[in-house]
Amino acid sequence: MKVKTAFIVGLPFCALLSMVLFAQSASSTRDGVYTADQAEQGHVLYTKQCALCHDAAQQSAGQIPPLTGDTFLQNWNGQTVADLYGKIQTTMPSTHPGSLKPDEVAQLVAYILSLNNYPAGKTPLPTKPESLQTIHIEMPLSGAQ
Ligand code: HEC
Repeated sequence: MKVKTAFIVGLPFCALLSMVLFAQSASSTRDGVYTADQAEQGHVLYTKQCALCHDAAQQSAGQIPPLTGDTFLQNWNGQTVADLYGKIQTTMPSTHPGSLKPDEVAQLVAYILSLNNYPAGKTPLPTKPESLQTIHIEMPLSGAQ
């Protein structure tokens, strides 16, 4: 009897606690998860290392997937920033995969988020997978550029 009572009392408490914890740790790309500085640094890197392939002409010719706009957002909607970070870190630039430092990957992700009209915030995008996994990619409120 006692065990059962403890269970009945404990269950809503656990549910409440996990809701509070979830609300604190989970966020979305709409919440300002990178800084404007980071995106600027990412822009410089992007021009040097990515634009060669991911430029407007090649992207619209269908040779290279675009990193902005509906197709890109639909690919990534529902995944987390850890997935996008991991994709870049392990496969890009495709001529030299694995060559980017963690900070550089975060800057590139920040730049790509800025291109897709996600707002900048006060805290830099982290590089730890555990932290990145809590940031969900959602469609931006104002649409892509
Ligand atoms: C030599 C050409 C080349 C370069 C340089 C390059 N990419 Fe790519 N990228 C590709 C190709 C081809 C694909 C599609 C195949 C794939 O997903 O691996 C791709 C796919 C991607 C994707 C996945 C897009 C999607 O929606 O699935 C991301 C993100 C990306 N690249 C980011 C980058 C970043 C950031 C850089 C610069 C550090 C970069 N790429 C440099 C050729 C390139």
